[in-house]
Amino acid sequence: MQNLDWSNLAFNYSKTNAAIISRYVDGAWTAPVASRDFEMPFNLYAGVFHYANSCFEGLKAFRGVDGKVRLFRPDENAKRLQRSGAHLDMAAPSEALFLEMCLMCVRENLDFLPPYGFNASMYLRPVLIGCNPQLGIASSKEVLFAVLGSPVGTYSGAAGLTPGTAVLARNYDRAAPNGTGSYKIAANYATSLHPYNMAHRQGYRELLFLDPATKTKIDEFGSSNFLAIKGNTYVTPLSDSVLPSITNKSLQTVAADFGMQVEKRPVPVEELAEMDEVNACGTAVVITPICSVDDKPALESTEVTKTYCFGSPEHCGPVSEKLYRRIRGIQDGTEEDIHNWCVFL
Ligand code: PLP
Ligand code: COI
Repeated sequence: MQNLDWSNLAFNYSKTNAAIISRYVDGAWTAPVASRDFEMPFNLYAGVFHYANSCFEGLKAFRGVDGKVRLFRPDENAKRLQRSGAHLDMAAPSEALFLEMCLMCVRENLDFLPPYGFNASMYLRPVLIGCNPQLGIASSKEVLFAVLGSPVGTYSGAAGLTPGTAVLARNYDRAAPNGTGSYKIAANYATSLHPYNMAHRQGYRELLFLDPATKTKIDEFGSSNFLAIKGNTYVTPLSDSVLPSITNKSLQTVAADFGMQVEKRPVPVEELAEMDEVNACGTAVVITPICSVDDKPALESTEVTKTYCFGSPEHCGPVSEKLYRRIRGIQDGTEEDIHNWCVFL
């Protein structure tokens, strides 16, 4: 076991023992290998550098209370990567290869997997990279598939369930109508970098994007999905430009297990005024409570036209906390995994 400060891990890249690599050449994937070297030669004409021929995934491995290692729903990530790859007209690994390489990554880097009890995990980053040299705009025929693993703590750096603030992205979109918002492709994240940096400089933790076609409904945060609690109802946006989050999907099931109503539907911005609890949800952020959302004419503006507040700025809402405890418990092995979501090492 590495001698790391497990209680103070950030959401950062760490150089671990090995990255797991397979290459798609001449129509087939090579047998995966564990590479000690994280620096690789790429042709500077590779599509990834010019046309963002790249898509990726994010999932976590946990060391449970019983000492067993669990991966949370990797089959869902495998399917989503295939969907993203297909949208880029790029080869993607089979579900079996995806799972094999994720397990191999955890095994090779086991001494970096945080112990139980530190609210930390190993974040796995499977990534498809378009490699062959090209000049014209084209999909990549040669692809590198890597699975990387880094020990991580909370995404924000604050203790889990510490509320943060958000701002609406009135004059920026992360995706276009009929665009790529529902795919986990690298290009979507490039679009959000500039407005995200601005929001962070202004002290906001999150940036909340609206539907790009009408700018009247809530889409999602730059890093995660939007979920709200309204009475006994779990509300989350239905939108073509939102990434189908595996965490959100799982939380909807958990909410239904708790006897809550689940509504996946368009959410008008003004409905924020009626929400009791608001959260960002995703693999990296888990459930992150949002205590307020500022509406501004533009992100650059110093004028705040309206602030929507949800619960206390100090504490997570009770329903969100209950959802969080159940999902984290399933991942840690302290709650029964009744839906068989976890895959063991
Ligand atoms: N939305 C965006 C834009 C994301 O980057 C992520 C992270 O993967 C999510 C939502 C949450 O998806 P998941 O719960 O599958 O991690
Ligand atoms: C994830 O939650 O896995 C993501 O990819 C989000 C990213 C901001 C780290």
